[in-house]
Amino acid sequence: MKFIHLTDPHFVPPGKTLYGRDPRPALDAAVADINAHHQDAEMAVITGDLTHWGEPAAFQNLVDGLAPLAMPVHVLAGNHDARDVLRAHFPNQPVDNNGFVQSTLDTPVGRFVFLDTMLAGTSAGHFCADRQAWLAETLAASDGHDLFLFMHHPPFDVGIPAMDRIGLQQKDEFQAVIEPHKARIRHLFFGHVHRPISGSWRGIPYSTLRGLNQQVWLDMVNEEMTASFEPPAYCVVLIENDRVVVHTHDFMDPNEKFKMHSSPFTDWAIRPPGA
Ligand SMILES: [Fe+2]
Repeated sequence: MKFIHLTDPHFVPPGKTLYGRDPRPALDAAVADINAHHQDAEMAVITGDLTHWGEPAAFQNLVDGLAPLAMPVHVLAGNHDARDVLRAHFPNQPVDNNGFVQSTLDTPVGRFVFLDTMLAGTSAGHFCADRQAWLAETLAASDGHDLFLFMHHPPFDVGIPAMDRIGLQQKDEFQAVIEPHKARIRHLFFGHVHRPISGSWRGIPYSTLRGLNQQVWLDMVNEEMTASFEPPAYCVVLIENDRVVVHTHDFMDPNEKFKMHSSPFTDWAIRPPGA
């Protein structure tokens, strides 16, 4: 099973820019690249910060940009979004009984669990008692299913102070909810950090990736965030019974591409020059 992980497009209304750049062309390029090479993907998942300021025109711009994508899209709320505007523009994205953009989706490889860690007015992630109760119930009702979790904010520190101070605030509570079920959680996907990071947390493998507009420069010292225009990426995720493979693709990379069989390096690979 193949799906596409995208994150943090930070859309603005048409004609506007964010940090001097229009986010739309990168999304258009991503959609074109995904359609050209991964039409067989079951879905795309965007892990939040769909927009930068949450205006309806920004959401509509994103909806329009995603329209040509050849597969269904599932979206999460990020700290930059406005939940009610998100719901109005993605009416097919299910919500829980409290209106949070939380839901499950059964796939051939397991149950995808989409979480909502947004709290209006703060950049940090929040997982209130209502959301904790929903997740506890959802996981308990998923006995026997492999699980894949999706959220905007990472539930642990990643070693970048500027991001860690706006990570999920209820780390202990979140951990307590998933602890009884973590053996069935095959992977955790998140956004927010705008950097390619992978590893494991309490035995759960995880990955995240660069956003589609601005990035966060690797700074493990300063509290103040440094942004960058490192290239955007999307991930192609391959899931089989015995593996989860996450390919990070810099789809706008301008470097030359060439076939190895027509390269002068081919012989070198077999036999060093002069041998
Ligand atoms: Fe973001």
